[in-house]
Amino acid sequence: MSAQPKLKKKEERIQVGEFWTAKQRQAHPIHYTISYRASFKPELPSFFFREFLYKKNSVVFDPFGGRGTTAIQANLEGHRAIHNDVNPVSVFLAKSRKIIPTMEKLERKLDSIDLKKPCRESVMDKSLLNFFHPDTLREIKNLMELGASDDTPELDYLRLTALSRLHGHSTGFFSVYTFPQFSISPEAQRRNNLKRGLVPEYRPIKPRISGKMKRDLSDPLPPFYHEYSKNNLYTNSSSVSIDDAPDSVADLAVTSPPFLDKVNYGQDNWMKSWFLGVKEEEAEKITMFPGVENWRNFISKTLIESSRILRKNAYFVMEVGEVKCGKEIVNLDEEVISASRDTNFEWEKTYINTQKFTKLSNCWSVANNEKGTNSNRCVVFRNRK
Ligand SMILES: C[S@@+](CC[C@H](N)C(=O)[O-])C[C@H]1O[C@@H](n2cnc3c(N)ncnc32)[C@H](O)[C@@H]1O
Repeated sequence: MSAQPKLKKKEERIQVGEFWTAKQRQAHPIHYTISYRASFKPELPSFFFREFLYKKNSVVFDPFGGRGTTAIQANLEGHRAIHNDVNPVSVFLAKSRKIIPTMEKLERKLDSIDLKKPCRESVMDKSLLNFFHPDTLREIKNLMELGASDDTPELDYLRLTALSRLHGHSTGFFSVYTFPQFSISPEAQRRNNLKRGLVPEYRPIKPRISGKMKRDLSDPLPPFYHEYSKNNLYTNSSSVSIDDAPDSVADLAVTSPPFLDKVNYGQDNWMKSWFLGVKEEEAEKITMFPGVENWRNFISKTLIESSRILRKNAYFVMEVGEVKCGKEIVNLDEEVISASRDTNFEWEKTYINTQKFTKLSNCWSVANNEKGTNSNRCVVFRNRK
């Protein structure tokens, strides 16, 4: 009888260090086409690809895909991806970068679109005028309406770039001065405008889209990018039951779930949802958990479903942080390990990546261990099915 390798003691399984750079925006600019709440740095999946993938053309899976960091980094490094997220906005953000057209094709497409023509009025217009000049709004709506009849990669990429320019704090955005990271309510924007004496001015959208595309496409993609991305699978399901993903296909999962109720992905992305025509009931499916126990059950069901999709002995990496629940600080990595009981997953290690405080981690309501530091806790399981 062959002896099972003995698992190390708990403390030996926890590794602390700076495993990837704390510097911002070091990865390929295509990642930064769009911002999204609580995304992780591309260096995080990249680190685990090096740790746990042994060959090119592997399949990387993310059940909580967000803006597509894991899938895009997989393609940039010569792997295929399965990107899942219950939020249709997330699926668009990832899928619109499956095929990245050349700058020439994109410019030609942008030139060919008539954004000045009159468009249908809607009940939303009144509230949107708190953000946009009427002529800017007309251009945005014309581009938005084209999305219903044109699903070419060129138009998808133009819509993605437009999404990233919808609102922000500089003149490079379509809106009057507002928050870039998430969409505030029209009423909050109305009060903001009154307080600061702001009136939305006309901001033609074509030059703003074009300028942003030039920046994002300034670095060439690896020549093999599309060879892998064309075989990606994009699914729009809850992580507990991803019926469109086959059994035993993925070689590695790198993911980060919603942290209890710390980010309201539906509400924060309402303007992106409006632009993409996502129905309210779809956005409502995005899970939020006010308590740790419900969250742990949800993670447990997600692990069971992920085990089905992963091959035997493949690794599953889940990045979490510490969150404040009332006055208490909860280490979600320990909750994830406890959620793995009664699943096929065996806890192998936890990597605690310590780094200087960064802007992105700041928006997570993640507690800091010390002033000015912040950690990502990545729990690693092996799929012993
Ligand atoms: C922390 S974010 C992931 C960010 C991602 N790692 C990135 O870099 O962009 C968590 C994601 O989980 C999604 N989500 C929430 N509930 C879900 C569910 N039940 N099933 C699948 N995805 C869900 C949210 O829409 C959000 O995109």
